[in-house]
Amino acid sequence: MVLPVNAYCLLGSEPTLVDTGMSPDTEGFRAALWNLVDPADLRWIVVTHDDRDHTGSLRAILDEAPQATVVTHFVSMAKIGEDGPLPLDRLRLVKPGDRLEIGDDVLDVFRPPLYDSPGTLAFHAQRRGMCFSSDCLGAFLPGSVDLAASSEDVPAAEYDAGVAVFASANSPWMHDVAPDRWQAGVADLRRRGITTLLSTHGLPVDRGLDRLYGTAAGLQTGPAFEAPGQEFVDAMLVMSGG
Ligand SMILES: [Fe+2]
Ligand SMILES: [Fe+2]
Repeated sequence: MVLPVNAYCLLGSEPTLVDTGMSPDTEGFRAALWNLVDPADLRWIVVTHDDRDHTGSLRAILDEAPQATVVTHFVSMAKIGEDGPLPLDRLRLVKPGDRLEIGDDVLDVFRPPLYDSPGTLAFHAQRRGMCFSSDCLGAFLPGSVDLAASSEDVPAAEYDAGVAVFASANSPWMHDVAPDRWQAGVADLRRRGITTLLSTHGLPVDRGLDRLYGTAAGLQTGPAFEAPGQEFVDAMLVMSGG
């Protein structure tokens, strides 16, 4: 199984980057980004949460894109700031219920029903219909999957299993949420009228959204992720000849 780490770039009148990838990939990440948009034109850098797999190129992009403003939650700002403060004059703090105008679209800001950082926010682009859900409903994928595919190209049972394992591993608290609260969170996601769900992990989901919401409704009562112990390392050492 593999876990893709996604970032997205909206090429509108105010080009907007959603998340910034992992630091070991920063050279290739920025080369790909600047192939899509001129650094001088990048206007917004949306950071869905502070985890390192989504903030790897943030500082470098801020240096290279002088017009770009970071959009994030207070808690994410504070946690990212542990490595040094973000420039205050390039910050736009948002919270659930806010709306952000990005030129030719509007981002509705909300707290998704699954997350692994208290700073997590999701962003629903109203005109495009796309929702950047952060880690919510991301998925482990079979190693053979074409990462340019969409979720419908993966057998449903395999995709759903990847969603379930990722949700339980990344948000283990979900198994402790009151069932009615859990279902209300899934219903809130469903009622937003999203046309494409874009998680920071997994593949784009559009035609399969209804099924995905059904999968989400059952996640809470599904099996809890069992983390491997030292036997995992021991097995890896044997496999690597160590
Ligand atoms: Fe995360
Ligand atoms: Fe993540």
